[in-house]
Amino acid sequence: MRLARRIARIDASPTAAFIPLMRDLRQKGRNVINLAIGEPEFATPDPVKAATARALESGRTRYDATSGVAALRERLAAAFEGLGPEHIVVTNGAKQALFSIFQAICDPGDEVILPVPCWVSFAAQVRLAGAEPVSVPCRSDHQLDMEAIARAAGPRTRAIIVNSPNNPTGAVYPRQTFENLARLARENDFYIVSDEAYHDFVYPPHEAFTPWSLADMRDRLIVVRSFSKAAAMTGFRVGYVAAAGDVARALERLQSHLCGNVCTFAQYGALAAAGEAPWLEAWLAELDGLRRFALEQTRALFDCTEPEGAFYLFPDVRRRLAVGQSSRDFAMDLLLQTGVAMVPGEAFGTPGHLRICYAVGREKLADAFERLRKRL
Ligand SMILES: Cc1ncc(COP(=O)(O)O)c(C=O)c1O
Repeated sequence: MRLARRIARIDASPTAAFIPLMRDLRQKGRNVINLAIGEPEFATPDPVKAATARALESGRTRYDATSGVAALRERLAAAFEGLGPEHIVVTNGAKQALFSIFQAICDPGDEVILPVPCWVSFAAQVRLAGAEPVSVPCRSDHQLDMEAIARAAGPRTRAIIVNSPNNPTGAVYPRQTFENLARLARENDFYIVSDEAYHDFVYPPHEAFTPWSLADMRDRLIVVRSFSKAAAMTGFRVGYVAAAGDVARALERLQSHLCGNVCTFAQYGALAAAGEAPWLEAWLAELDGLRRFALEQTRALFDCTEPEGAFYLFPDVRRRLAVGQSSRDFAMDLLLQTGVAMVPGEAFGTPGHLRICYAVGREKLADAFERLRKRL
């Protein structure tokens, strides 16, 4: 039987595709080091687990408000000056937030500008909304190429999606970039979707700029955040959208037919993570050490820009490729020969690169680079 055309236009997430492959190799007795999945090894903090268990035991196990439990939305809204809790929608992770946003703002024939390299799901999510992703390469330092973005913008542009700190490059965009984007978005009347899944992961002396602080941008800004990385809650599936105007209500309508509320007791876990997050300081210090170590090791093998946030490196591996070899072939060869799993740049719309997640223990990281050095 035939499937729908829109499903034929997308592939499964290439990072998710690594999971069965690695399981397979492990079952065959291989010692695989996973630098492919974007999930730090930190344990979910005790206060989050305790709040979730309390919620479960006290019967927070029923349907609740579609856009999220009131106490959580209130706490989240407090971080967005001028925004009430009715403008927050709690979603099943940032992933569902982004999927729903494109469903809510795009019509067939619309275009969404994607600065590349970019996260694996943006293009598929835009396509599933019937719109066309328009890839615009970033500069070689991984910052946005504003002139190229201005050339790509036009009457069909519905939105641009920006992700700072960035997956896969670790780039953090400065205030000036958001001011320029705000001007361009006003001139061309489009939304700015700001994926801030790594909002809490910026290494001093660098600082994350929060576009919500630009008051004249708020009417066209849609912010997406997540508890997945910030509180080691990847399995809880809790993220959220903050947006002015009609967007939150549209998302709520969509969500009321799609999935209803996010798991109620998981939202109480998120509530415990939504205020102070005392674990973050130690996590950042540890990740910063790993970042420096991984950067030094990577630069001995490939060309690599220093990341300022998130927990990835995105080296240019082109000088290591054999004639006719793609970075996809290269990643597969390295996985099979060394047991080190990394994601090829093709997954992020930028062949010739690898994404390395360094949020693993120091010993594993050292072992991985040792294996790579021997092979290369
Ligand atoms: C840039 C980016 N956006 C969104 C997500 C989705 O995160 P969540 O677990 O909140 O769905 C990820 C996950 O890796 C990501 O890297």
